[in-house]
Amino acid sequence: MERLEGAIISQVTADKQEVSNECLHPRFKPLILFAMNVLLLGSGGREHAIAWKLSQSSMLRKLHIAPGNGGMESLGETADLDPMDFAAVERYVRRHEIGLLVVGAEAPLVAGIADYFEASTKTNVMVVGPKKEGAMLEGSKEFAKAFMQRHNIPTARYASFDHTQLDEAIAALDEFQPPYVLKADGLAAGKGVIITSSKEEAVKTLEEMLSGKAFSDAGRKVVIEEFLEGKELSMFAVTDGSSYHLLPSAKDYKRIGEGDTGPNTGGMGAISPVPFLSEEFQQKALNQVIIPTIKGLGKDGIPYKGVIFFGLIKVGSDPYVIEYNCRLGDPETEVVLPRLKSDLLHLFESLCSGLLSEYDLVTDERAATTVILASEGYPGSYEKGHAIKGLDDVADIDGMVFHAGTKSSRRKIITNGGRVVALTGRGNDVEEALKNSYKLAEKVTFEGAYHRADIGADVLDLA
Ligand code: AMP
Ligand code: GLY
Repeated sequence: MERLEGAIISQVTADKQEVSNECLHPRFKPLILFAMNVLLLGSGGREHAIAWKLSQSSMLRKLHIAPGNGGMESLGETADLDPMDFAAVERYVRRHEIGLLVVGAEAPLVAGIADYFEASTKTNVMVVGPKKEGAMLEGSKEFAKAFMQRHNIPTARYASFDHTQLDEAIAALDEFQPPYVLKADGLAAGKGVIITSSKEEAVKTLEEMLSGKAFSDAGRKVVIEEFLEGKELSMFAVTDGSSYHLLPSAKDYKRIGEGDTGPNTGGMGAISPVPFLSEEFQQKALNQVIIPTIKGLGKDGIPYKGVIFFGLIKVGSDPYVIEYNCRLGDPETEVVLPRLKSDLLHLFESLCSGLLSEYDLVTDERAATTVILASEGYPGSYEKGHAIKGLDDVADIDGMVFHAGTKSSRRKIITNGGRVVALTGRGNDVEEALKNSYKLAEKVTFEGAYHRADIGADVLDLA
């Protein structure tokens, strides 16, 4: 299973779907004759993991990170730039002769950063990430649902309504069984999904979303969908629209409380590989979801150069799409990239220069897990500015600490966000990796630090 995960390279052609365990090209390792400057946009644990992996590349001249966080300063030059200010990013790219721009989070992609640089006459920088139209897979739930329906990709039955259709939306609730799943159409930082068994609360949520009171403009269109029961997992394809590579799969833990209780967060932990991802299920996911998605983009005339994140749910033995994202996941990246043996910058460069099918993606059989240390009160309000202790005391543990909400202040690393650090453990299997994540949690701490003690427990119970 593991070998399969990493070794698949497939050409997606217009007339046939073909999946092969073998590279279609002879193993080809281009001689790396040049090195480049790279600018990575973002400031979370995902970006720290990307920066960590890029910094090991034989193709890297210098890594720049904007805005970065307290953990990334040792990996490259950090710059106080707003990723949404494209003109400022462009000036930086020119000044520092950046050859490749890696966009970590969705907001700049949905706002058109890749389109901006494609149209720019001032720089030829390559951008890792789709243009606006492709990023709509994440930027609009309604777009994603219509796309899946058009291309016969399994997903929950749905109906969508705009702000002029409150009465119709309320009436439509009767066409769905509780629990009701209500999704704000636009970006809402992973918090735009409300699931409730109470019709009264569903009606109230529809009123609040469609009036713009909840999630402002992102909620002024709503998707109501059928509730699906099953285990969730995340799969990732790096694609240029004609070829793709699968990165290792992962499972994340979104709720704040143990036993998956309480409000959703940006993610409290993750594991990779996913113990319940069988070879058979992976083939189904490829044939029913991943390949049809890439082909569907082609049929719709939507170019795509970047990562497609497939948020899947296993219903019975079949994959259904819960959501698409147009970038890597957080905290999944903190377990996915430690399992990538091959050069990440080489992968990104191949993606941008049309050589993706010739890239040799090798994954590590070993497992990785991550446990998030969060500030007390998160995902509600929380304090910042507490000193983080123990960061220099972890060298004997098999793993690494990725910073998320941290900053450096007077030579100390202090808390600067809700999710503060991702404690990634390595091991021969998920169980051993988790032990190392929790050993890290005994060392690294700060006032009010909170973590879930049950990451991975649900799937280990099944093993
Ligand atoms: P999303 O932002 O679309 O990924 O949704 C956030 C979370 O809500 C998912 O990870 C699921 O746990 C849950 N969810 C979303 N859609 C459904 C659905 N149709 N059925 C059951 N759970 C869902
Ligand atoms: N972990 C889910 C996400 O990155 O959206």
